[in-house]
Amino acid sequence: MRRASLHFSVGRLRALSLARSMGQIISIHSYRGGTGKSNIAANLAYLTAKRGHRVAVLDTDLQSPGVHLLFGLEQERMPFTLSDFLFDKCELEDAVYEVGAAAPLNDSGGALFLVPSSMTIESISRVLSEGYDPGKLNSHFKQLMETYDLDVLFLDTHPGLNKETLLTAAVCDTLVILIRPDKQDFHGTALLTEMARRLAVPSVYLIANKVVGRLNPDEVVTRMKEAFQYEVIGVLPLSEEMAGLGSRGLFCLEFPSDPLTAELGRIADHLMSRGLNSGKH
Ligand SMILES: Nc1ncnc2c1ncn2[C@@H]1O[C@H](COP(=O)(O)OP(=O)(O)OP(=O)(O)O)[C@@H](O)[C@H]1O
Ligand SMILES: [Mg+2]
Repeated sequence: MRRASLHFSVGRLRALSLARSMGQIISIHSYRGGTGKSNIAANLAYLTAKRGHRVAVLDTDLQSPGVHLLFGLEQERMPFTLSDFLFDKCELEDAVYEVGAAAPLNDSGGALFLVPSSMTIESISRVLSEGYDPGKLNSHFKQLMETYDLDVLFLDTHPGLNKETLLTAAVCDTLVILIRPDKQDFHGTALLTEMARRLAVPSVYLIANKVVGRLNPDEVVTRMKEAFQYEVIGVLPLSEEMAGLGSRGLFCLEFPSDPLTAELGRIADHLMSRGLNSGKH
């Protein structure tokens, strides 16, 4: 049943891949919730900007937004959000915030922007009851990248396989799928990788997150490669410091010398080299 409905969508969605833009759109996704998408998207975005690139993070998780909290941005300081744009209350540019104060870039030459979603009950209940048109969002990605001269746009997403996920995957250049070493995650991820194949997403990478110390990282990589046939670009440990930080800030700023920060930096480099190698600016 699931396979049939996925198959039904593919033809229409493939056409959208024509809209893929010149900068790199990297979608951070997972089948299950709580895998670390928002934290990893925010940290990768910061580390990428710190390397001198122009970067934005867009919170497409309109049902349970929150990535703005990692940048110290509270609802009161967000007069407009992505939710307002999608409900025709503002232009997309009105919902773009520069977050250099919370995430200092020093003299890197980079820039970091955030497009948050609204955490008000009104907005979230409207999204839940009426849904929104993801096509409107996708059609403005190119405009956003051009206006802010972005090298990379990171998309933080809502977990699972739904209309929004399919449409976002259809226009992204790189899909990064997070997975915990958990049987339910493995089964759900198989659906996501199948979707990515059918949509011919140009690059798909896997990251294992919250990997407990007693698991051998090499074995985790081997299992993931065998199961999904995609490259594994990181195995991130279950970190007491990250859990303790509890999304109150950017891990790599709070713990610059932690091995997890080094690993996130390596992943950021890998993703950027992919964009540069494929001729993107
Ligand atoms: N490697 C890690 N080690 C320990 N805790 C982690 C790690 N990665 C993320 N977390 C914690 O897991 C929780 C969920 O993370 P996060 O909100 O980023 O996940 P998510 O995938 O965005 O969730 P959702 O699906 O609800 O949007 C947070 O409290 C975060 O601090
Ligand atoms: Mg999240």
